[in-house]
Amino acid sequence: MAELLDKTDKRTKYCGTFTTDDIGKEVCAMGWCQRQRDLGGLIFIDLRDRSGIIQLAFDSDTPKNVSETAFKVRSEFVLCAKGTVRARSEGAVNKNIPTGKIEISVKELKILSTSQTPPFAIIENSDVKPELRLKYRYLDLRRPDMQKNIIARSKIAKITRDYFEENGFIEIETPNLIKPTPEGARDYLVPSRVHPGSFYALPQSPQLYKQLLMLSGFDRYIQIARCYRDEDLRADRQPEFTQIDEELSFVTQDDVIEINEGFLKRLFKDFLGMEIMTPLPRMTYAEAMERYGSDKPDTRFALELKNISFLVKNCSFKVFAGAVEAGGSVRAINIKGGAKFSRKEIDSLADFVKTYKAKGLAWYKKAEGGTVSSSYAKFLTEEENNSILEFMDITPGDLLVIVGDPDNDIVFDSLGALRREVASRMGLIKPGDYKLLWITEFPLLEYSKEDGRYYAKHHPFTMPMEEDLCYIDSDPGRVRAIAYDIVINGTEAGGGSVRIHVPEIQQKMFSVLGMKKEEYEEKFGFLLDAYRYGAPPHAGLAFGLDRLTSLLLGIDDIRDVIAFPKVQNASELMTGAPSPADPKALNELMISVNE
Ligand code: AMO
Repeated sequence: MAELLDKTDKRTKYCGTFTTDDIGKEVCAMGWCQRQRDLGGLIFIDLRDRSGIIQLAFDSDTPKNVSETAFKVRSEFVLCAKGTVRARSEGAVNKNIPTGKIEISVKELKILSTSQTPPFAIIENSDVKPELRLKYRYLDLRRPDMQKNIIARSKIAKITRDYFEENGFIEIETPNLIKPTPEGARDYLVPSRVHPGSFYALPQSPQLYKQLLMLSGFDRYIQIARCYRDEDLRADRQPEFTQIDEELSFVTQDDVIEINEGFLKRLFKDFLGMEIMTPLPRMTYAEAMERYGSDKPDTRFALELKNISFLVKNCSFKVFAGAVEAGGSVRAINIKGGAKFSRKEIDSLADFVKTYKAKGLAWYKKAEGGTVSSSYAKFLTEEENNSILEFMDITPGDLLVIVGDPDNDIVFDSLGALRREVASRMGLIKPGDYKLLWITEFPLLEYSKEDGRYYAKHHPFTMPMEEDLCYIDSDPGRVRAIAYDIVINGTEAGGGSVRIHVPEIQQKMFSVLGMKKEEYEEKFGFLLDAYRYGAPPHAGLAFGLDRLTSLLLGIDDIRDVIAFPKVQNASELMTGAPSPADPKALNELMISVNE
């Protein structure tokens, strides 16, 4: 049934781009049948491609064999139609589509390909289950909203390349089969056939290569780079993702920030038509944690945390006083207007913070009329209660929520997440609002209680702040790094740092991370060697392209801006990857699999 194209079948233009200017012209359109309507004697086909839809009309003037072919067409058949563009009769105008005033009166029709009934309709905003969409991703990608996302991503990549090229950056590709680069996640390993028992790692980022390129003198590098990280998936994380990766020489943190503010300004202007004011606000890590309980604060709404430890440290309520005594803290948020939350809703907020390991949520509600109810007030003296209410500025209509815990991380995590949850429940976020800020002065190291050792908070090649270097042996946790993240609407869109370019500091860093000389020489000897041949001071940053695209499109799940993403368990539903390897291939690699 399917016909082939011949030399005369040349597409005039995309379906959605026909206009009333084309009326009277002989044209050729190709695409997919969105739907076919047979009104007896009259047949209409909506022909779709990535630009939109044009209506094909078959009526009494249409050659009989052409109408017979049109009669057979079903959804998703691929067609080539030739005919004349004409105005639709007044009653037939469709105001919902740009081509709604015209149609093609078809004289020739070829069915280039037939289609089974698709597993879901190819329409915008379909509520089909994600698993089904991903299994038939090639069909899902035909939907107009997915096409819009993928095309938007391409535009963003183009704006990126243009901006950095105009600013003297050179695009350089770095290898994908490499020696492991520690970025904090697990590596994907690739076995070597020629070196049985040896493995490459897929890059978690091009970090070391871009630094080495600085030593080679390519002082402004850019790459839209694929990165691979074997870590737990979330809505904003994929095992395989893309970075806009940069590195610059002879610069300080301020230079990197400035060039990237220029980039963001350009991106928002060209892509969203939106003016963002630069310089962007900057906030230290310590302040972000203190005020928002997060190093990626969403500043589109207030709901700030306040430390009330000093007010409750001597009270007789163990939950509060005990938390402070054990070295933790008690912190609170005044949810303005939150008194409208019912008891049941407050209980659900308490359940919510428990998922962040908080033991509970203490609350105090002052209704509009002044009626008071509270989960904890009875355990405190009147004076203690009043001092909290005054400090937290509680007025009628407010709901005060409090978390105390011996572990400060739990207090920050739970209240940090709670403020986002409450903002979304109360509809405090204006659609189309963007709040960008830099977070600076991150801790250099992070202590893992589980492993009893320090890990690099950003990565081991990040320069400590000079004034904190003196604590590196005595109190490593206190050392801050020259590291910065760009946060957009509560998402870490990018991060970077000034790098260590002095071999002695790099060696020190490796030892603080618990590596013996032999170990770091074996793993990073090439880097330490390189630094001995004239290393310029350098710094860089990487944006997550997937995250940036989804932020600009206002999409929560980065899978919607990736053509072929993976699901929660890191598999790809369409092809079924990963899958067991051919025993012959394993044999060649000298690999045996333990079942
Ligand atoms: P970092 O690890 O902070 O830094 O990564 C930079 C940015 O990449 C994005 N990102 C991800 N996006 C999707 N899925 C993931 N699994 C994922 N992991 C990270 C985030 C993040 O901000 N080499 C350093 C950069 C540098 O120092 O120059 C690095 O990779 O948006």
